[in-house]
Amino acid sequence: MTDILDAIHEDHANMVKMLNALERQLAVFDAGETPDYDIVRGVVDYCLDYPDLYHHPKEDLVFERLKVRDPAAAAEIGDLPGQHAELAVRTRRLQEAVAAVLGDLEVPHGRLNQTLREFLDAYRQHMNEEERAFLPAARRVLSAEDLAEIQDRLDHPADPLFGAPSEERFAALRQDILNWAEDAT
Ligand SMILES: [Fe+2]
Ligand SMILES: [Fe+2]
Repeated sequence: MTDILDAIHEDHANMVKMLNALERQLAVFDAGETPDYDIVRGVVDYCLDYPDLYHHPKEDLVFERLKVRDPAAAAEIGDLPGQHAELAVRTRRLQEAVAAVLGDLEVPHGRLNQTLREFLDAYRQHMNEEERAFLPAARRVLSAEDLAEIQDRLDHPADPLFGAPSEERFAALRQDILNWAEDAT
């Protein structure tokens, strides 16, 4: 049976695919060509609408409970909610940069590049750490009752990008992810 920790892990697997799609657009941009801004914007919108609203709050609740059950284990992980707030700021920054480019405002190549790079690195590092330390600690410490109770306190909306059906506004990003999944097989 899948529980809240499995759901978090599954979100991470999806978010890896999303970040890889953004990485490909960054490579296009670095090569001096125009990225597909529907894909870039899809990543930004998705992060604002799903990780920020549902994935990170899910983790924050698990983290809160971990702090109660095993403060030392939680302390080793650090300030998870603070990292989520920082990712939200980075996402807004990327959103503004993309809006400026699409609004024909002058955005220096280096600045957009740096914003994209930092966004990608911060997201990846955060998720890798959660997979390495946070999820195993939560799995070790929290009981099935803890996890079920957290699950009950949350909303569980469909994932607008990876769920079926995917929302139309994510069509370009979804298609890119599917194309690359096919290439990999
Ligand atoms: Fe997180
Ligand atoms: Fe996460």
